[in-house]
Amino acid sequence: MAESTPPAGVTLRGVGKTFGDVTAVHPLDLTVPQGSFFALLGASGCGKTTTLRMIAGLERPTTGRVLLGERDVTALPPHKRPVNTVFQSYALFPHLDVSENVAFGLRRRGLKSVTKQVTEVLELVELGHLARRRPSQLSGGQQQRVALARAIVNRPEVLLLDEPLGALDLKLRRQMQLELKRIQTEVGITFVHVTHDQEEAMTMADTIAVMNAGRVEQLGAPAELYENPRSAFVANFLGQSNLIEAGISGTDGDDILLSVGDAKLTLPKSRTHAASTATGGTVLAGIRPEKITMTPRAAEADIPGGRNRLTGTVVDASFTGVSTQYVVKSPACPELAVFAQNAERERLAPGADVVLHWDPAHTFGLDGREDIDAGTGEDAV
Ligand SMILES: Nc1ncnc2c1ncn2[C@@H]1O[C@H](COP(=O)(O)OP(=O)(O)O)[C@@H](O)[C@H]1O
Ligand SMILES: [Mg+2]
Repeated sequence: MAESTPPAGVTLRGVGKTFGDVTAVHPLDLTVPQGSFFALLGASGCGKTTTLRMIAGLERPTTGRVLLGERDVTALPPHKRPVNTVFQSYALFPHLDVSENVAFGLRRRGLKSVTKQVTEVLELVELGHLARRRPSQLSGGQQQRVALARAIVNRPEVLLLDEPLGALDLKLRRQMQLELKRIQTEVGITFVHVTHDQEEAMTMADTIAVMNAGRVEQLGAPAELYENPRSAFVANFLGQSNLIEAGISGTDGDDILLSVGDAKLTLPKSRTHAASTATGGTVLAGIRPEKITMTPRAAEADIPGGRNRLTGTVVDASFTGVSTQYVVKSPACPELAVFAQNAERERLAPGADVVLHWDPAHTFGLDGREDIDAGTGEDAV
């Protein structure tokens, strides 16, 4: 029997949007599995909100179809779609208390008895004890919970969240991320969450679509995107990557052999996303900073065989508590980042000559023509 794919919550088929001569979203194919927590992640201006608004019906696509479940809703106005949206601005009714804010949508649909639903949803967002307060008597985080409760009480098929935590301070945002994840798991509604914060997307989402300039660059589970990025943009935008320009010197079974100056590196073919891997060509060899171990040059003999190695000199060491973050200058690369956990190991000081080494299985390969700096310094709001 064929493996069953989960039913689709939202399907976009060739959905694109232009505003005059600005292409906000290039025609896009996307399937959001029903009941999943899906994140659209990208820098400001990359087309996230426009995509969300087309799902909600607030924006008409220039091309393509929008499906919710099996149903084509492209021609339906927002209020006819089984969708609710939570925005960064909570837009609560100031003159109504928490419970009446939450009950509003139900009453508008003509429901007489709303107490049970309202009580339940307020328990879900842990606001039962504040039901009689006005929005002005609540903190930002509490107002955000009211906005969430007000959307969830309608039991939409899909809940759209546009940077809903953007107005909260960092600590509260981290707390609400975990809360949102718990709530989504409890109610089982499909969540499509828009954010420019990669850590937020990775914490919460089952699946992330990384957007760049109106296109989806890569889609997958957070760990898959992080461990095996397919483009320099994704490698740099999601966490931090070391990208090393390398020449292809041959192959060995399932591996590609690389040379970087005097150094030789091994790259698994299965983790290489380059148009060509012909001998004589180039690739960008990627390695995450936390995958690298540093050994003083004097102790080089202790490094086990079979590891990728580069020599270098420590130029900077920042102690951050749980880890020390090093910058290392190497003939292979002007600046390599290395994160070392502060376990029992002693720290290395600037000026130390070191060997950087890692399991070749952690190396990923990108097309040699890619912009090595794509996606760096893009996460500003
Ligand atoms: N109503 C509009 N008219 C003209 N251009 C727009 C409009 N809405 C969005 N855009 C443009 O479309 C692009 C994507 O915007 P948006 O979807 O809001 O991005 P994001 O939410 O990722 O920050 C931007 O270049 C933005 O300026
Ligand atoms: Mg936006």
